Amino acid sequence: MTAMQNVSLGSHYVVHMPAPDDFAFWRERARGLIQCDVPPDRVSWVEPGGTGDLFAQEGPSRGEKRLPVPDKDARPVRASRRFMKLARNAALHSDSQRFGLLYRMLWRLQRNPRAMEDKADPDVRRIEELDKSVRRDSHKMHAFVRFREVAGEDEEHYVAWFEPDHHILRANAGFFRRRFANMHWSILTPRGCIHWDGETMRESGPARREDAPQGDPTEELWKSYYASIFNPARLKVGAMLSEMPKKYWKNMPEAELIPDLIAGAQAREAGMVAAGEREERERPGSLEDIARQIATCRDCPIAECGTRAVMGEGPATASLMIVGEQPGDQEDVVGRPFVGPAGQLLDECLERAGIERSTAYVTNAVKHFKFVPKIVQGGKRRLHQTPQAKEIDTCRWWLESERGIVKPRVVLALGASAARGILGKTVSVSKVRGAPIPLGDGSELWVSVHPSYLLRLDGEASEEQGRLFARDLAAVQARLGELSV
Ligand code: URA
Repeated sequence: MTAMQNVSLGSHYVVHMPAPDDFAFWRERARGLIQCDVPPDRVSWVEPGGTGDLFAQEGPSRGEKRLPVPDKDARPVRASRRFMKLARNAALHSDSQRFGLLYRMLWRLQRNPRAMEDKADPDVRRIEELDKSVRRDSHKMHAFVRFREVAGEDEEHYVAWFEPDHHILRANAGFFRRRFANMHWSILTPRGCIHWDGETMRESGPARREDAPQGDPTEELWKSYYASIFNPARLKVGAMLSEMPKKYWKNMPEAELIPDLIAGAQAREAGMVAAGEREERERPGSLEDIARQIATCRDCPIAECGTRAVMGEGPATASLMIVGEQPGDQEDVVGRPFVGPAGQLLDECLERAGIERSTAYVTNAVKHFKFVPKIVQGGKRRLHQTPQAKEIDTCRWWLESERGIVKPRVVLALGASAARGILGKTVSVSKVRGAPIPLGDGSELWVSVHPSYLLRLDGEASEEQGRLFARDLAAVQARLGELSV
């Protein structure tokens, strides 16, 4: 215990906290004071430089006097795990009374170890409130910190501005370090800043909002993503505001869209209702009609995603229809199915199986690219997101329309999403692969894995699954041969 941080005024002790979030320091001092039998009303806990200064240095105070030092054989201080867990979090609250409150509770626990069990006790309730509020603030920080790119000298640097309610910055640094380990980033706040350069974490003093950049091209990605996941049928403005309070909106690019999305929600909801009535609609009469109609389809939220709807391609009289999951990043850019890495692998495997891709009709269960924008080292990426069952089911209308026009004898579904697109229900690929499933119109379905699954494997698993995939394709080729005679 250093004399610098503690002052005794007669029988009253003042503990100067070196930092507003230094729980270890509080615990150490609280333990010593309790062992010396200093009652709560004889201790004041003072934060450095007022409530907002996370990194202020504490200097010696006049009239300083050491805190009492406990005897070596002083009785140990008892506290339940539950109390320590709550206290650790509550200590990060911006309430200036928190350290005194925690000391009072710790003092009381020595006399009544079960004091925390009384839910109606005002101290217990207040500690729980502080804990809850800090957890909520951390949750908001994880969800609403948005990095913006700034030109660095050598490396790209990402900077975010955030206004926490409590002293949660340092406690949450690990979360951001793990999540953005390869990036160089800074989080600026009015309570202090943290900086990560890929190897070490550094802290600096408070920042102002003007110190952080405003807006960059990544924001367009966030906006299109947000618009795509916004579900008008679920719109509850009150709940939305409590989850994403307005105070955070100014730091979030996608928030700019919220007023318009709310305003347009009714129209979009009506569109979704109409989609439900679509079964009664007239089916498109040609592949060209489908291509035209899917370009403006807004039947599910993914339709707002990506650049365009990607139509199937191939002969309208193909005996084989190959169905994938959804266009990927490259397919979305080019506007054709299976032209990216998974498409290249598919082409190679088809060729090895003796199936000429140009004779097959190749399409997807879902016609839009569903993705989440992500900042990764060296740039921005659109990361593939698996479509939900209801999105596959909505897009089924188009897949069935394609099947109705092409009338393939054999349908090959690559992966579980494709199989659901054809069957309207989920099946286990490993259980159904290797044998045909009759589709009721004289055609049959063969199910195998998706080539992107093979791309994710390596070593023995890759070889084994590659062999099984080749076997599935060979079976399809043999079946096509049988059906053509
Ligand atoms: N994956 C698919 O399922 N389809 C494509 O078109 C590309 C990748």
